[in-house]
Amino acid sequence: MKALWTAAAAAIGAVAYGLSRPGVRATLREDLDTVRRRDPAATSDFVSLVSYPGMHAIWAHRGLHRLWQNDTTKVPARLMSQAVRTLTGVEIHPGAQIGRRFFIDHANGVVIGETSEIGDDVMLYHQVTLGGTSMEQAKRHPTIGNHVLVGAGAKILGPVVVGDNSSVGANAVVVKDVAADSSAVGIPAKVRPYKKSTGAEAVATESGDTSSKYADFELIDPAIWI
Ligand SMILES: CC(C)(COP(=O)(O)OP(=O)(O)OC[C@H]1O[C@@H](n2cnc3c(N)ncnc32)[C@H](O)[C@@H]1OP(=O)(O)O)[C@@H](O)C(=O)NCCC(=O)NCCS
Repeated sequence: MKALWTAAAAAIGAVAYGLSRPGVRATLREDLDTVRRRDPAATSDFVSLVSYPGMHAIWAHRGLHRLWQNDTTKVPARLMSQAVRTLTGVEIHPGAQIGRRFFIDHANGVVIGETSEIGDDVMLYHQVTLGGTSMEQAKRHPTIGNHVLVGAGAKILGPVVVGDNSSVGANAVVVKDVAADSSAVGIPAKVRPYKKSTGAEAVATESGDTSSKYADFELIDPAIWI
């Protein structure tokens, strides 16, 4: 019982320390805003904080990715990532590189391999795999550009590149590069230019930051309302 109280006090202390840092607060705000932009059902920050395992997995990954940078902490990072998988249903290898405003909706059964690279403003649905096809210890997982949507159940395999502003359809199996501004659907996925605007085209801002200029992107796909 005493150990439980000690653990609770340590957790509260860690949260208080984290929240006292402006950078942490800003990141948290950005994450919560991302949930609201990506999921119209998200109307309460408190509910988002406690009930989005996709966001929890991303938070854990950020810490574990740091540990992964150091040879002496690689093993604990790997072990803890498995604990996170058990808790959230999302397996992100600590070596994966992930950009800002990443969101996993209905997070469950998602696997992101060690050498995956993911840009900014990427959204995945449940059961997505960014997997490898080779046993070599080399770049063997996908590279996903900015503003990419990957539909439920899609598998993207090998060191392929999915270009900016593209979509991968639900249940697609992608084994070749996907050009920018395209959609890839089917098995094996066929790539075709986007029929309609994604709303994700880059809009230069005064500050040169393209970060929040994609507010409409997630609303284009009606499936998100499910
Ligand atoms: C691929 C996707 C992004 C739409 O892209 P798009 O370029 O706007 O595609 P369109 O809707 O214009 O359809 C283009 C063609 O692809 C087909 N298509 C669309 N999605 C498909 C899919 N997942 N699998 C197979 N074919 C698909 C359409 O039938 C259409 O075929 P046609 O040209 O023969 O008529 C969307 O269909 C999709 O799969 N989104 C993922 C949504 C999701 O996973 N939601 C989960 C919510 S819980």
